[in-house]
Amino acid sequence: MSNITVESNRLQGTVILPPDKSISHRAIIISSLGQNKVQIRNLSLCEDCLSTLEAFKNFGVTISEDNNSFTIEGKGMDGLRKAPKGEIYLGNSGTSMRLILGVLAGQKFSSRLSADASLSRRPMKRVTQPLSLMGAKITGKQGGEFAPLTIQGGKLSPINYKAPVASAQVKSAILLAGLYAEGTTTVQEPAKSRDHTERMLKNFGADISVRGLSVSVTGRASLVGRDLEVPGDISAASFFLVGTCISKGSEITIESVGLNPTRTACLKVLKQMGAAVSWEYQDARMADKDYDDEARGEITAKYSQLKAITIKPDQIPSLIDELPILIVAATQAEGQTKICGAGELRVKETDRISSMVSNLVKMGADIRSEENDIIIRGPSKLLGTTVESFGDHRTAMSMAIAGLVTSGRTTIKDIDCVNTSFPEFFETLSRLKS
Ligand code: S3P
Repeated sequence: MSNITVESNRLQGTVILPPDKSISHRAIIISSLGQNKVQIRNLSLCEDCLSTLEAFKNFGVTISEDNNSFTIEGKGMDGLRKAPKGEIYLGNSGTSMRLILGVLAGQKFSSRLSADASLSRRPMKRVTQPLSLMGAKITGKQGGEFAPLTIQGGKLSPINYKAPVASAQVKSAILLAGLYAEGTTTVQEPAKSRDHTERMLKNFGADISVRGLSVSVTGRASLVGRDLEVPGDISAASFFLVGTCISKGSEITIESVGLNPTRTACLKVLKQMGAAVSWEYQDARMADKDYDDEARGEITAKYSQLKAITIKPDQIPSLIDELPILIVAATQAEGQTKICGAGELRVKETDRISSMVSNLVKMGADIRSEENDIIIRGPSKLLGTTVESFGDHRTAMSMAIAGLVTSGRTTIKDIDCVNTSFPEFFETLSRLKS
Protein backbone atom coordinates (compact mmCIF):
# COMPACT_ATOMS: atom_id res chain seq x y z
CA MET A 1 0.00 0.00 0.00
CA SER A 2 1.59 3.29 -1.01
CA ASN A 3 0.95 6.79 0.26
CA ILE A 4 1.64 10.12 -1.42
CA THR A 5 2.22 13.63 -0.12
CA VAL A 6 1.07 16.67 -2.09
CA GLU A 7 1.75 20.38 -1.51
CA SER A 8 -0.29 23.44 -2.34
CA ASN A 9 0.33 24.59 -5.88
CA ARG A 10 -1.23 26.00 -9.00
CA LEU A 11 -1.84 24.07 -12.23
CA GLN A 12 -0.62 25.22 -15.61
CA GLY A 13 -0.28 23.65 -19.02
CA THR A 14 -1.93 21.10 -21.26
CA VAL A 15 -3.49 18.00 -19.74
CA ILE A 16 -3.04 14.63 -21.43
CA LEU A 17 -6.04 12.60 -20.35
CA PRO A 18 -6.43 8.85 -20.08
CA PRO A 19 -8.85 7.33 -22.61
CA ASP A 20 -12.50 7.27 -21.53
CA LYS A 21 -13.09 4.27 -19.30
CA SER A 22 -16.81 3.81 -20.00
CA ILE A 23 -16.33 3.93 -23.77
CA SER A 24 -13.33 1.58 -23.57
CA HIS A 25 -15.33 -1.11 -21.73
CA ARG A 26 -18.08 -0.90 -24.34
CA ALA A 27 -15.61 -0.91 -27.23
CA ILE A 28 -14.18 -4.23 -26.01
CA ILE A 29 -17.54 -5.82 -25.24
CA ILE A 30 -19.51 -4.73 -28.29
CA SER A 31 -16.64 -5.27 -30.76
CA SER A 32 -16.27 -8.83 -29.43
CA LEU A 33 -19.90 -9.47 -30.40
CA GLY A 34 -19.51 -7.99 -33.89
CA GLN A 35 -18.99 -10.28 -36.85
CA ASN A 36 -15.78 -8.63 -38.09
CA LYS A 37 -12.36 -7.33 -37.10
CA VAL A 38 -12.13 -3.79 -35.70
CA GLN A 39 -9.30 -1.52 -34.70
CA ILE A 40 -9.60 0.51 -31.54
CA ARG A 41 -7.21 3.35 -31.01
CA ASN A 42 -6.55 4.91 -27.61
CA LEU A 43 -8.17 2.12 -25.60
CA SER A 44 -7.91 2.57 -21.83
CA LEU A 45 -5.40 0.27 -20.17
CA CYS A 46 -6.54 1.07 -16.65
CA GLU A 47 -7.03 -1.95 -14.38
CA ASP A 48 -10.82 -1.91 -14.78
CA CYS A 49 -10.66 -2.03 -18.58
CA LEU A 50 -7.98 -4.72 -18.44
CA SER A 51 -10.47 -6.82 -16.45
CA THR A 52 -12.95 -6.56 -19.33
CA LEU A 53 -10.23 -7.23 -21.91
CA GLU A 54 -9.04 -10.37 -20.08
CA ALA A 55 -12.60 -11.60 -19.71
CA PHE A 56 -13.24 -11.48 -23.47
CA LYS A 57 -9.89 -13.12 -24.21
CA ASN A 58 -11.10 -15.85 -21.87
CA PHE A 59 -14.34 -16.09 -23.83
CA GLY A 60 -12.23 -16.93 -26.89
CA VAL A 61 -11.97 -13.51 -28.56
CA THR A 62 -8.62 -12.81 -30.24
CA ILE A 63 -7.38 -9.39 -29.16
CA SER A 64 -3.96 -8.08 -30.15
CA GLU A 65 -2.09 -4.84 -29.62
CA ASP A 66 0.21 -3.02 -31.98
CA ASN A 67 1.47 0.50 -31.50
CA ASN A 68 -1.28 1.68 -29.13
CA SER A 69 -3.97 0.23 -31.40
CA PHE A 70 -5.98 -2.86 -30.46
CA THR A 71 -7.43 -5.27 -32.98
CA ILE A 72 -10.47 -7.18 -31.80
CA GLU A 73 -11.61 -10.09 -33.96
CA GLY A 74 -15.34 -10.09 -33.30
CA LYS A 75 -16.80 -13.58 -32.88
CA GLY A 76 -20.36 -12.66 -33.76
CA MET A 77 -23.29 -12.76 -31.36
CA ASP A 78 -23.08 -16.51 -30.78
CA GLY A 79 -19.32 -17.03 -31.05
CA LEU A 80 -18.21 -16.69 -27.41
CA ARG A 81 -17.12 -19.89 -25.63
CA LYS A 82 -17.07 -20.89 -22.01
CA ALA A 83 -13.92 -19.59 -20.29
CA PRO A 84 -11.49 -22.49 -19.84
CA LYS A 85 -11.56 -22.20 -16.03
CA GLY A 86 -15.25 -21.31 -15.99
CA GLU A 87 -14.45 -18.46 -13.59
CA ILE A 88 -13.71 -14.86 -14.52
CA TYR A 89 -12.18 -12.46 -11.97
CA LEU A 90 -13.22 -8.83 -12.48
CA GLY A 91 -11.28 -7.14 -9.67
CA ASN A 92 -12.74 -3.77 -8.67
CA SER A 93 -14.66 -3.12 -11.87
CA GLY A 94 -18.40 -2.68 -11.42
CA THR A 95 -18.86 -1.77 -15.08
CA SER A 96 -17.20 -5.04 -16.18
CA MET A 97 -19.32 -7.11 -13.79
CA ARG A 98 -22.68 -5.57 -14.68
CA LEU A 99 -22.21 -5.29 -18.45
CA ILE A 100 -20.68 -8.75 -18.80
CA LEU A 101 -23.63 -10.23 -16.89
CA GLY A 102 -25.85 -8.77 -19.64
CA VAL A 103 -23.81 -10.54 -22.35
CA LEU A 104 -23.61 -13.82 -20.43
CA ALA A 105 -27.39 -13.85 -20.01
CA GLY A 106 -27.56 -14.66 -23.73
CA GLN A 107 -24.88 -17.40 -23.82
CA LYS A 108 -25.54 -21.12 -23.81
CA PHE A 109 -22.86 -21.80 -21.19
CA SER A 110 -22.47 -21.02 -17.51
CA SER A 111 -19.84 -18.74 -15.97
CA ARG A 112 -18.83 -17.69 -12.49
CA LEU A 113 -17.89 -14.03 -11.97
CA SER A 114 -15.80 -13.09 -8.95
CA ALA A 115 -14.54 -9.75 -7.67
CA ASP A 116 -12.33 -8.05 -5.09
CA ALA A 117 -13.62 -7.31 -1.58
CA SER A 118 -15.04 -3.88 -2.48
CA LEU A 119 -16.93 -5.02 -5.60
CA SER A 120 -18.16 -8.12 -3.74
CA ARG A 121 -19.99 -5.73 -1.37
CA ARG A 122 -21.70 -3.73 -4.13
CA PRO A 123 -25.34 -4.37 -5.08
CA MET A 124 -25.92 -6.63 -8.07
CA LYS A 125 -29.64 -7.38 -7.77
CA ARG A 126 -30.35 -4.22 -9.74
CA VAL A 127 -28.91 -6.20 -12.69
CA THR A 128 -29.46 -9.84 -11.75
CA GLN A 129 -33.18 -9.27 -11.12
CA PRO A 130 -34.08 -7.90 -14.60
CA LEU A 131 -31.77 -10.47 -16.27
CA SER A 132 -33.53 -13.23 -14.34
CA LEU A 133 -36.86 -11.86 -15.55
CA MET A 134 -35.52 -12.29 -19.08
CA GLY A 135 -34.70 -15.93 -18.37
CA ALA A 136 -31.07 -16.04 -17.15
CA LYS A 137 -30.39 -18.27 -14.14
CA ILE A 138 -28.21 -16.38 -11.68
CA THR A 139 -27.12 -17.45 -8.22
CA GLY A 140 -24.97 -15.64 -5.70
CA LYS A 141 -24.87 -14.53 -2.10
CA GLN A 142 -28.19 -13.19 -0.76
CA GLY A 143 -30.18 -14.33 -3.77
CA GLY A 144 -27.86 -12.85 -6.38
CA GLU A 145 -27.22 -9.53 -4.61
CA PHE A 146 -23.47 -10.04 -4.18
CA ALA A 147 -20.57 -11.52 -6.16
CA PRO A 148 -19.33 -14.14 -6.72
CA LEU A 149 -22.21 -14.81 -9.09
CA THR A 150 -22.87 -17.84 -11.27
CA ILE A 151 -24.86 -17.23 -14.41
CA GLN A 152 -26.34 -19.75 -16.81
CA GLY A 153 -27.59 -17.99 -19.92
CA GLY A 154 -29.86 -19.27 -22.63
CA LYS A 155 -32.96 -18.37 -24.55
CA LEU A 156 -34.14 -14.95 -23.38
CA SER A 157 -37.52 -13.25 -23.50
CA PRO A 158 -37.75 -9.49 -24.06
CA ILE A 159 -38.87 -7.32 -21.15
CA ASN A 160 -40.30 -3.88 -20.66
CA TYR A 161 -38.39 -2.73 -17.60
CA LYS A 162 -38.87 0.37 -15.49
CA ALA A 163 -35.52 0.70 -13.71
CA PRO A 164 -35.79 1.90 -10.10
CA VAL A 165 -32.36 3.63 -10.30
CA ALA A 166 -30.83 5.72 -13.07
CA SER A 167 -27.76 3.65 -13.86
CA ALA A 168 -25.95 3.27 -17.16
CA GLN A 169 -24.62 -0.08 -15.96
CA VAL A 170 -28.11 -1.45 -15.33
CA LYS A 171 -29.46 -0.02 -18.59
CA SER A 172 -26.50 -1.38 -20.56
CA ALA A 173 -26.74 -4.87 -19.05
CA ILE A 174 -30.40 -5.10 -20.06
CA LEU A 175 -29.74 -3.75 -23.57
CA LEU A 176 -26.88 -6.21 -24.10
CA ALA A 177 -29.11 -9.07 -22.97
CA GLY A 178 -31.86 -7.60 -25.18
CA LEU A 179 -29.61 -8.21 -28.21
CA TYR A 180 -30.18 -11.94 -27.57
CA ALA A 181 -33.95 -11.85 -26.90
CA GLU A 182 -36.54 -12.56 -29.60
CA GLY A 183 -38.48 -9.29 -29.79
CA THR A 184 -38.11 -5.81 -28.36
CA THR A 185 -36.66 -5.09 -24.93
CA THR A 186 -37.29 -1.66 -23.43
CA VAL A 187 -35.60 -0.03 -20.43
CA GLN A 188 -37.01 3.11 -18.93
CA GLU A 189 -34.85 5.11 -16.53
CA PRO A 190 -35.99 7.62 -13.89
CA ALA A 191 -33.35 10.10 -15.18
CA LYS A 192 -30.93 10.05 -18.08
CA SER A 193 -27.65 8.19 -17.49
CA ARG A 194 -24.65 8.08 -19.83
CA ASP A 195 -25.63 6.72 -23.24
CA HIS A 196 -22.41 5.24 -24.68
CA THR A 197 -23.95 1.77 -25.08
CA GLU A 198 -26.86 3.09 -27.13
CA ARG A 199 -24.57 5.11 -29.39
CA MET A 200 -22.14 2.28 -30.00
CA LEU A 201 -24.86 -0.32 -30.62
CA LYS A 202 -26.53 2.03 -33.12
CA ASN A 203 -23.24 2.59 -34.92
CA PHE A 204 -22.68 -1.16 -35.07
CA GLY A 205 -26.08 -1.63 -36.75
CA ALA A 206 -28.25 -2.80 -33.85
CA ASP A 207 -31.97 -2.13 -34.08
CA ILE A 208 -32.11 0.39 -31.23
CA SER A 209 -34.17 3.48 -30.61
CA VAL A 210 -34.28 6.12 -27.90
CA ARG A 211 -37.43 7.98 -26.89
CA GLY A 212 -36.95 10.34 -23.94
CA LEU A 213 -35.91 8.20 -20.98
CA SER A 214 -36.75 4.90 -22.74
CA VAL A 215 -34.41 2.85 -24.88
CA SER A 216 -35.57 -0.13 -26.94
CA VAL A 217 -33.53 -2.79 -28.67
CA THR A 218 -34.86 -5.54 -30.92
CA GLY A 219 -32.90 -8.73 -30.59
CA ARG A 220 -31.16 -11.25 -32.81
CA ALA A 221 -29.75 -8.73 -35.30
CA SER A 222 -26.06 -9.11 -36.12
CA LEU A 223 -23.56 -6.40 -35.28
CA VAL A 224 -21.07 -4.98 -37.74
CA GLY A 225 -18.12 -3.45 -35.92
CA ARG A 226 -16.55 -0.13 -36.89
CA ASP A 227 -13.07 1.16 -36.14
CA LEU A 228 -13.03 3.50 -33.18
CA GLU A 229 -10.85 6.06 -31.48
CA VAL A 230 -11.66 6.49 -27.80
CA PRO A 231 -11.70 10.15 -26.65
CA GLY A 232 -10.12 11.38 -23.40
CA ASP A 233 -12.07 10.78 -20.20
CA ILE A 234 -14.08 13.83 -19.08
CA SER A 235 -14.46 12.35 -15.58
CA ALA A 236 -10.64 12.28 -15.31
CA ALA A 237 -10.59 15.85 -16.66
CA SER A 238 -12.90 17.03 -13.87
CA PHE A 239 -10.13 16.64 -11.25
CA PHE A 240 -7.86 19.07 -13.09
CA LEU A 241 -10.73 21.42 -13.90
CA VAL A 242 -11.62 21.77 -10.23
CA GLY A 243 -7.91 21.99 -9.27
CA THR A 244 -7.59 24.88 -11.72
CA CYS A 245 -10.73 26.66 -10.54
CA ILE A 246 -9.68 26.61 -6.87
CA SER A 247 -5.94 27.34 -6.99
CA LYS A 248 -4.98 30.95 -7.73
CA GLY A 249 -2.95 31.58 -10.91
CA SER A 250 -3.99 28.29 -12.56
CA GLU A 251 -4.84 27.97 -16.23
CA ILE A 252 -5.10 24.73 -18.23
CA THR A 253 -6.15 23.34 -21.60
CA ILE A 254 -7.50 19.82 -22.02
CA GLU A 255 -7.33 18.41 -25.53
CA SER A 256 -9.24 15.64 -27.26
CA VAL A 257 -11.71 15.07 -24.45
CA GLY A 258 -15.05 13.31 -24.81
CA LEU A 259 -17.96 15.78 -24.85
CA ASN A 260 -20.87 13.36 -25.04
CA PRO A 261 -23.90 15.40 -23.82
CA THR A 262 -24.68 12.81 -21.12
CA ARG A 263 -21.22 13.43 -19.60
CA THR A 264 -20.83 17.24 -19.75
CA ALA A 265 -23.07 18.18 -16.80
CA CYS A 266 -19.95 18.80 -14.67
CA LEU A 267 -18.85 21.55 -17.08
CA LYS A 268 -22.26 23.21 -16.85
CA VAL A 269 -22.27 22.96 -13.04
CA LEU A 270 -18.80 24.50 -12.79
CA LYS A 271 -19.92 27.33 -15.09
CA GLN A 272 -22.98 27.86 -12.92
CA MET A 273 -20.61 28.11 -9.93
CA GLY A 274 -18.88 30.98 -11.75
CA ALA A 275 -15.90 29.05 -13.14
CA ALA A 276 -14.05 30.43 -16.14
CA VAL A 277 -14.43 27.20 -18.09
CA SER A 278 -15.25 26.91 -21.78
CA TRP A 279 -15.29 24.12 -24.34
CA GLU A 280 -15.27 23.80 -28.06
CA TYR A 281 -16.25 20.82 -30.24
CA GLN A 282 -13.69 19.47 -32.66
CA ASP A 283 -16.27 19.76 -35.41
CA ALA A 284 -19.41 21.97 -35.37
CA ARG A 285 -21.63 18.95 -36.21
CA MET A 286 -20.73 17.40 -32.85
CA ALA A 287 -22.72 20.09 -31.03
CA ASP A 288 -25.88 19.01 -32.87
CA LYS A 289 -28.33 17.16 -30.64
CA ASP A 290 -28.82 14.53 -33.35
CA TYR A 291 -25.09 13.79 -33.67
CA ASP A 292 -25.02 10.05 -32.99
CA ASP A 293 -21.33 9.32 -32.41
CA GLU A 294 -19.13 10.34 -29.45
CA ALA A 295 -18.49 14.11 -29.53
CA ARG A 296 -15.05 15.37 -28.56
CA GLY A 297 -13.22 18.67 -28.30
CA GLU A 298 -11.13 20.93 -26.09
CA ILE A 299 -11.75 22.48 -22.67
CA THR A 300 -9.98 25.50 -21.20
CA ALA A 301 -10.21 26.67 -17.61
CA LYS A 302 -8.77 29.38 -15.37
CA TYR A 303 -8.79 30.09 -11.65
CA SER A 304 -12.07 31.71 -10.62
CA GLN A 305 -13.75 32.56 -7.32
CA LEU A 306 -16.55 30.02 -7.18
CA LYS A 307 -20.02 30.49 -5.71
CA ALA A 308 -22.29 27.95 -4.05
CA ILE A 309 -25.11 26.17 -5.88
CA THR A 310 -27.79 23.58 -5.21
CA ILE A 311 -27.61 20.27 -7.05
CA LYS A 312 -31.01 18.56 -7.30
CA PRO A 313 -31.69 14.79 -7.24
CA ASP A 314 -32.45 14.63 -10.98
CA GLN A 315 -28.96 16.02 -11.74
CA ILE A 316 -27.18 13.30 -9.74
CA PRO A 317 -27.01 10.58 -12.48
CA SER A 318 -25.29 12.90 -14.96
CA LEU A 319 -22.74 14.01 -12.33
CA ILE A 320 -22.30 10.73 -10.52
CA ASP A 321 -18.53 10.30 -10.97
CA GLU A 322 -17.78 14.02 -10.63
CA LEU A 323 -19.58 14.54 -7.31
CA PRO A 324 -16.54 13.81 -5.08
CA ILE A 325 -14.46 16.46 -6.84
CA LEU A 326 -17.41 18.90 -6.98
CA ILE A 327 -17.62 18.53 -3.19
CA VAL A 328 -14.00 19.72 -3.03
CA ALA A 329 -14.93 22.66 -5.32
CA ALA A 330 -17.82 23.52 -2.98
CA THR A 331 -15.46 23.88 0.02
CA GLN A 332 -13.88 26.82 -1.86
CA ALA A 333 -17.14 28.36 -3.12
CA GLU A 334 -18.82 31.31 -1.41
CA GLY A 335 -22.02 30.31 0.36
CA GLN A 336 -23.83 27.07 1.09
CA THR A 337 -23.77 24.31 -1.52
CA LYS A 338 -26.34 21.57 -1.12
CA ILE A 339 -26.10 18.31 -3.06
CA CYS A 340 -29.47 16.61 -2.71
CA GLY A 341 -30.43 12.96 -3.09
CA ALA A 342 -26.93 11.57 -3.71
CA GLY A 343 -27.63 8.12 -2.22
CA GLU A 344 -26.05 6.35 -5.22
CA LEU A 345 -22.68 7.64 -3.96
CA ARG A 346 -23.03 5.25 -1.03
CA VAL A 347 -22.80 2.19 -3.31
CA LYS A 348 -19.69 3.13 -5.28
CA GLU A 349 -16.17 1.70 -4.73
CA THR A 350 -16.65 3.04 -1.20
CA ASP A 351 -19.43 5.07 0.44
CA ARG A 352 -18.34 8.34 -1.17
CA ILE A 353 -20.56 10.51 1.04
CA SER A 354 -18.80 9.20 4.17
CA SER A 355 -15.33 9.11 2.62
CA MET A 356 -15.44 12.70 1.37
CA VAL A 357 -17.16 14.13 4.45
CA SER A 358 -14.76 12.47 6.91
CA ASN A 359 -11.65 13.47 4.94
CA LEU A 360 -12.75 17.07 4.43
CA VAL A 361 -13.85 17.47 8.07
CA LYS A 362 -10.31 16.38 8.99
CA MET A 363 -8.99 19.16 6.74
CA GLY A 364 -11.19 21.71 8.54
CA ALA A 365 -13.97 22.09 5.94
CA ASP A 366 -17.50 23.02 6.98
CA ILE A 367 -19.28 19.96 5.58
CA ARG A 368 -21.88 17.53 6.81
CA SER A 369 -24.29 14.97 5.46
CA GLU A 370 -27.98 14.66 6.26
CA GLU A 371 -29.11 11.24 5.05
CA ASN A 372 -28.24 11.39 1.35
CA ASP A 373 -27.77 15.18 1.13
CA ILE A 374 -24.39 16.85 1.50
CA ILE A 375 -24.18 20.41 2.83
CA ILE A 376 -20.99 22.39 2.41
CA ARG A 377 -20.33 25.96 3.51
CA GLY A 378 -17.44 27.78 1.94
CA PRO A 379 -14.98 29.10 1.33
CA SER A 380 -12.91 27.44 4.04
CA LYS A 381 -9.19 27.39 4.61
CA LEU A 382 -8.18 23.76 4.40
CA LEU A 383 -5.38 22.33 6.52
CA GLY A 384 -2.86 19.81 5.27
CA THR A 385 -3.25 16.51 7.11
CA THR A 386 -3.33 12.76 6.47
CA VAL A 387 -6.44 11.49 4.71
CA GLU A 388 -7.65 8.11 3.48
CA SER A 389 -8.48 6.86 -0.01
CA PHE A 390 -10.65 4.10 1.51
CA GLY A 391 -9.39 2.07 -1.47
CA ASP A 392 -11.44 4.29 -3.80
CA HIS A 393 -9.77 5.94 -6.81
CA ARG A 394 -12.09 8.95 -7.00
CA THR A 395 -11.76 9.70 -3.28
CA ALA A 396 -7.95 9.49 -3.60
CA MET A 397 -7.80 11.82 -6.62
CA SER A 398 -10.28 14.29 -5.10
CA MET A 399 -8.22 14.55 -1.92
CA ALA A 400 -5.02 15.10 -3.92
CA ILE A 401 -6.74 18.05 -5.63
CA ALA A 402 -7.95 19.39 -2.26
CA GLY A 403 -4.27 19.24 -1.26
CA LEU A 404 -3.53 21.94 -3.86
CA VAL A 405 -5.16 24.54 -1.61
CA THR A 406 -4.22 23.40 1.91
CA SER A 407 -1.87 25.19 4.23
CA GLY A 408 0.72 22.50 4.86
CA ARG A 409 1.16 19.16 3.17
CA THR A 410 -1.49 16.55 2.58
CA THR A 411 -0.75 12.84 2.70
CA ILE A 412 -3.20 10.50 0.98
CA LYS A 413 -2.99 6.92 2.21
CA ASP A 414 -3.33 3.83 0.02
CA ILE A 415 -3.26 5.43 -3.42
CA ASP A 416 -2.73 2.27 -5.50
CA CYS A 417 -6.48 2.33 -6.19
CA VAL A 418 -5.99 5.18 -8.73
CA ASN A 419 -4.73 2.47 -11.10
CA THR A 420 -8.29 1.25 -11.50
CA SER A 421 -9.16 4.28 -13.66
CA PHE A 422 -6.17 6.61 -14.10
CA PRO A 423 -2.73 5.03 -13.52
CA GLU A 424 -0.93 8.22 -14.68
CA PHE A 425 -2.90 10.57 -12.40
CA PHE A 426 -0.08 11.61 -10.05
CA GLU A 427 2.41 11.95 -12.91
CA THR A 428 -0.04 14.14 -14.83
CA LEU A 429 -0.68 16.22 -11.72
CA SER A 430 2.98 16.84 -11.02
CA ARG A 431 3.60 17.84 -14.66
CA LEU A 432 0.94 20.56 -14.33
CA LYS A 433 2.37 22.03 -11.14
CA SER A 434 4.44 25.14 -11.68
C1 S3P B 1 -20.56 3.71 -15.56
C2 S3P B 1 -21.73 4.07 -14.98
C3 S3P B 1 -21.81 4.70 -13.65
C4 S3P B 1 -20.47 5.25 -13.20
C5 S3P B 1 -19.34 4.31 -13.47
C6 S3P B 1 -19.26 3.96 -14.93
C7 S3P B 1 -20.60 3.06 -16.89
O1 S3P B 1 -22.23 3.73 -12.71
O2 S3P B 1 -20.50 5.59 -11.85
O3 S3P B 1 -18.11 4.86 -13.04
O4 S3P B 1 -19.56 3.02 -17.57
O5 S3P B 1 -21.68 2.60 -17.27
P1 S3P B 1 -23.79 3.45 -12.40
O6 S3P B 1 -24.42 2.95 -13.63
O7 S3P B 1 -23.78 2.39 -11.34
O8 S3P B 1 -24.33 4.74 -11.91
